[in-house]
Amino acid sequence: MKSLTEEIVKRRVLTEVEKYPFFQKAVIALSGGKDSGSLLHVFMEVYPDKEVIPVHLNLGIGGFSEASERFARMQAEKAGLQLVVFNLEKELGFSIMDAKKLYPKVCSVCGGFKRYLLNRISFELDADIILTAHHLEDFLVRMLKSVLNAGFEELARFKTYLPRKGNLVAKGRPFCRVSENLIAEYAFLKGIPFLSEKCPIGRKENVERFRRTVEILARRQSQKLLYFSSLTKLAEKLHSCGAIPMPELKPCSSCGFLASSETCSFCARVRKIKAFLDREKAASF
Ligand code: FES
Ligand code: ZN
Repeated sequence: MKSLTEEIVKRRVLTEVEKYPFFQKAVIALSGGKDSGSLLHVFMEVYPDKEVIPVHLNLGIGGFSEASERFARMQAEKAGLQLVVFNLEKELGFSIMDAKKLYPKVCSVCGGFKRYLLNRISFELDADIILTAHHLEDFLVRMLKSVLNAGFEELARFKTYLPRKGNLVAKGRPFCRVSENLIAEYAFLKGIPFLSEKCPIGRKENVERFRRTVEILARRQSQKLLYFSSLTKLAEKLHSCGAIPMPELKPCSSCGFLASSETCSFCARVRKIKAFLDREKAASF
């Protein structure tokens, strides 16, 4: 018998995904945590006929990354799928721990790397869409931060679905109306193995404060959903009024993926990190 949690989660995922244009091959970014592990499970139950490729990025954050990969493998195996793993250190010659030496606030650099690499891998796999497990509270925190910090450009760019643009693969967030508690219940209910440990190097105090604020403002899920739809409407209005210019995209001079600058931030940062590590190596001789 289906539980209420299962029914709600499935219905909300279905309602969201039905808004996307038709797609057949989806990459699901699997971190090893409960959110993406649950997304893989729900999505395969709701859409058994779609092709799914789980992709994991091993960022080289010591034992945390090893455990994350182990759990992502277990989740893929439970779903009967082969996990695609991209190991940053093996592929690029440095880890996020190395990048941290040059960028002490490495979280945003790491986030940019993840977005770029997921797109590149999905493009090479010829996927139609990339699905990530950002949930309701993730969106509320992000949108609230933008409003309070007058980050209108960020708010205007906010979308739960991004269509394909050239070599930028379409992106969808099927959990945008599902709260984290429901996802946790779903994961336990379905016996999904997951890593509960959080990244040990992330500086998230700011995000945690906003997260607590969201919990104070909206005790009930219905309130969170209401705030979500109000903020989404605000983002749409900002986007459509034309007052905020959207960056023009052109191919990166180095990798060819569309970017808002001559060289994309990924290529520029990789170059800087490698040069830094080379200098460090030379100085140690
Ligand atoms: Fe990227 Fe923690 S996962 S900094
Ligand atoms: Zn590039």
